[in-house]
Amino acid sequence: MNMMNQDINLSDALPEDETSRQYYYIEKARLYVQELSSRIGRPLTFCVTTFGCQMNARDSEKLRGILREIGYLEAEEDQADFVIYNTCTVRENANTRVYGRLGQLKPRKKKNPHMMIGLCGCMMQEPEVIEKLKKSYPFVDIIFGTHNIFKFAELIAERFATDKPVIDIWEGTDQIVENLPNQRKYAFKSGVNIMFGCNNFCSYCIVPYVRGRERSREPQAILDEIRRLAKDGVVEIMLLGQNVNSYGKTLDEPMTFAQLLTEIEKIEGIKRIRFMTSHPKDLSDELIEVMSRSSKICRHLHLPVQSGSSRVLKQMNRRYTKEQYLELVEKIRKAVPGISLTTDIIVGFPGETEEDFQETLDIVRKVRYDSAFTFIYSKRTGTPAAKMKDQVPEEMIKDRFQRLLTEVQNIAAEVCSVHEGTTQEVLVESICDHDPSMVTGRLSNNLLVHFHGDASLIGKLLPVHLTECKGFYYLGEPGM
Ligand code: 5AD
Ligand code: SF4
Repeated sequence: MNMMNQDINLSDALPEDETSRQYYYIEKARLYVQELSSRIGRPLTFCVTTFGCQMNARDSEKLRGILREIGYLEAEEDQADFVIYNTCTVRENANTRVYGRLGQLKPRKKKNPHMMIGLCGCMMQEPEVIEKLKKSYPFVDIIFGTHNIFKFAELIAERFATDKPVIDIWEGTDQIVENLPNQRKYAFKSGVNIMFGCNNFCSYCIVPYVRGRERSREPQAILDEIRRLAKDGVVEIMLLGQNVNSYGKTLDEPMTFAQLLTEIEKIEGIKRIRFMTSHPKDLSDELIEVMSRSSKICRHLHLPVQSGSSRVLKQMNRRYTKEQYLELVEKIRKAVPGISLTTDIIVGFPGETEEDFQETLDIVRKVRYDSAFTFIYSKRTGTPAAKMKDQVPEEMIKDRFQRLLTEVQNIAAEVCSVHEGTTQEVLVESICDHDPSMVTGRLSNNLLVHFHGDASLIGKLLPVHLTECKGFYYLGEPGM
């Protein structure tokens, strides 16, 4: 996906257009990398480690694209000359893990002074984190946030030029820089950002503070990217945004998410379309209608409920009640029979009583999710919920969490097994982790199936007979 660097000449003036500017810095950084590489007598290597969600995974592909473009080769972390952590801060334990990993890197960096350490992502948008890093982790070379990831090459060039740590955090931006390098993890599927940021301010969530206000990409830029991906052999795309259902509202020429999907469906070569995340309050009848007609949109919807108690939902600022959520589920199931529903649930939100928790168990029993991500509430400084009274005691939360997990898992095992004996289309993704004579593929509803096959099947769509359900995955036989 490198389209421009051939035209860059470092003796020319720095280009004004942001994409060209970054290709200029890619060239510049490449020279520094070449120089260091000949000094130490071998190619330089990098490792990008991603914490958190699919948005971060997608951002990491952009980091990898740039690092390769400037001459680094990919390696395992313990071999890498440039280690970068793309961080998450949605729950406290994500931060703790990053500090732990940094502590382990310190002695390595001491032994190899040419080594570079980079930190980026959501955690870097928190001022307390930057203070702590400056004080206790001064050996980190490059720190940037979520708004200026497109400047990665420029920051690397600056680090080489000044030989000093570079810290560049922006409070926000409305800039979206297109057409930078990108290295996809899979040849046959790809995430595609359609919007950035979030305006919802759920009271427990730090995302709106660290990812900024909602901004949508121009539909043409999205469609062009997907056409390029399709030409390059991609058959499945995952449209990414914190709240895809409010796509397009901030564009000069507003467009709905359903309209965008309709346009994407027309692109030849794309066989499967997924998207996440959907906020229940914004999921429109128009979208349900488009999903019901579509042959490409996958039969799976991730619809975070967070709690089954209308009282807690109000405190969470989710702007729907338990009843409204259940009505929505009914409407979706009627329009798209057999659709798989998954969700996120938080246990132990401040003030959550046993009765509130029973409402959560009740909604889980009523909806019967195919799977659910369950989280223990984590207090995030700066969010309204952090100041709420009645924080629930840890022991009580743990007990509720276990009860919820058992319920979710029992139901999921029952729900998943209903496809046993059917034949369904599968996209083959990889060689099976546990048995190299088998491959692993994904059904439209997002479940995995293992069956006999070899690497030549990877990226292909084929019918597979689901012979046996093993709880959360299937064993199958191809071609029947
Ligand atoms: N504590 C626990 N879980 C959280 N999530 C977001 N913020 C918090 C928090 N403070 C969960 C929500 C969201 C998912 C991505 O992470 O369930 O849907
Ligand atoms: Fe956080 Fe709510 Fe925005 Fe999701 S919709 S990112 S939970 S504020």
